Amino acid sequence: MNEPIPHDLGLQLPLPPGALKFLLVLLFLLHILFVNFMVGGHTLALLFELAGLKKQKYDKLAKEISKTITVNKSLAVVLGVAPLLVINLAYTTYFYSATSLTGIAWIMVIPLVTLAFLLTYLYSYSWQRWQGDHKTLHIIVGVMAAILFWTIPLIFLANVNLMLFPSRWLTVSGFLSALSLPNVLPRYFHFLLATVAVTALFAVPYFGRQKFDLESRLPGFERNEIKRLFYRIAFFVTLFQFMAGPLLLFTLPVQGISWELYGVILIGVISAITFMILVWNEIRPDNPRVGRFFGLVVVLLTTTVVAMAYGRHIYRDRAIEPHHEAMLERTQEFYWASEAARARVRMGITQQTFGSGGEKAFEQNCSVCHAMDMTLVGPSLTEIYEIYENDIEAIVTWSKDPGVKRGGAPMPAFKHLGDETLTEIAEYMLSLMGAE
Ligand code: HEC
Repeated sequence: MNEPIPHDLGLQLPLPPGALKFLLVLLFLLHILFVNFMVGGHTLALLFELAGLKKQKYDKLAKEISKTITVNKSLAVVLGVAPLLVINLAYTTYFYSATSLTGIAWIMVIPLVTLAFLLTYLYSYSWQRWQGDHKTLHIIVGVMAAILFWTIPLIFLANVNLMLFPSRWLTVSGFLSALSLPNVLPRYFHFLLATVAVTALFAVPYFGRQKFDLESRLPGFERNEIKRLFYRIAFFVTLFQFMAGPLLLFTLPVQGISWELYGVILIGVISAITFMILVWNEIRPDNPRVGRFFGLVVVLLTTTVVAMAYGRHIYRDRAIEPHHEAMLERTQEFYWASEAARARVRMGITQQTFGSGGEKAFEQNCSVCHAMDMTLVGPSLTEIYEIYENDIEAIVTWSKDPGVKRGGAPMPAFKHLGDETLTEIAEYMLSLMGAE
């Protein structure tokens, strides 16, 4: 097993882990709802603005949608703080590791989000003024904001995916290489499609409600027409999800897949299919009261979303379970070792006894980075044995002037120990493997 296994912090959590995880799913759903409105809303506004170049009435619609973005983005961001705090508590070592590995991109989230927000204000408030001569400029601003809105979630996705695969921590360095994890891109497309579908769905009652002054705000639209329009978008985009979803499932590394997961996903799929049938019924041209089943439609979609979010949670827990157990074990070992050391001090045994000079020098100089079967900072003794077998001299040569082979942190040089000590160390290391 070539994965780094950190110590757990062993601190008291403010809530039991199960409660924290429940909160995480709940708070995350709330946050992601508004992220959906923000990203999907902006995407739709931009698309309708482009359609508006041909048909003026779509430009008006785009403008109306853009007005909702600034509010939704504030809610999305504020509601994003809570799940971040909870994920930090519930998955401390995992989240921390993934965050450090995607460090620069992760920090870039802040300036990127800031820039995206300034652009959305500009986009929304310059609509009237830049009509006509400056329309191209306005569209460019919209595209720039859209690119940011589409990029930022990718950073989050790379991070939370990387969290699940400790075995990749030693090979991944940086955001771009985290993107190559098998599951990141399918999940990303699944997410982007969802933003559009969810936003379109909520546009149905938003523009369809009686209080919305359709005639003056969206001239050229009829109420049923606009409801049908957004229903249709939600329908066809969700149709793509039936392709993106399985792709997502099949690219999941198997280590976290379970029957429970399949069960939960099945519930999600069944309610998604029912959702599709109902929406299909709503958009039928001969339906005089479009939106009659909206409540039910929302219930069905919510069921799907909750099932998928819960499925994701089950997967996450299963995927990191073996690693988590190994981590707890190591923490326990560490705990006992320090207890033992303390006991030795109490009993006045301050000298640790070593079987040989090589053992002592190894403990003092090498053991922080090299352990028997585990990769710490440096490779395990087993791995070293596989490379060097009984070649003591080669180990001495390497230790005096280590090269860079694995591309992680380089090993410091131990020339100062002298050939004799290094030879003893090498002998000791190999003796652990049953060689002379
Ligand atoms: C600060 C951490 C650290 C300490 C202390 C350390 N090493 Fe290493 N060691 C490493 C790292 C990291 C590598 C892998 C370097 C690479 O592949 O680029 C490594 C690799 C090695 C290798 C394998 C080289 C190969 O060909 O793959 C040997 C042998 C080795 N160390 C011996 C020692 C000995 C002997 C000591 C003590 C005198 C020691 N190391 C102390 C970090 C350390």
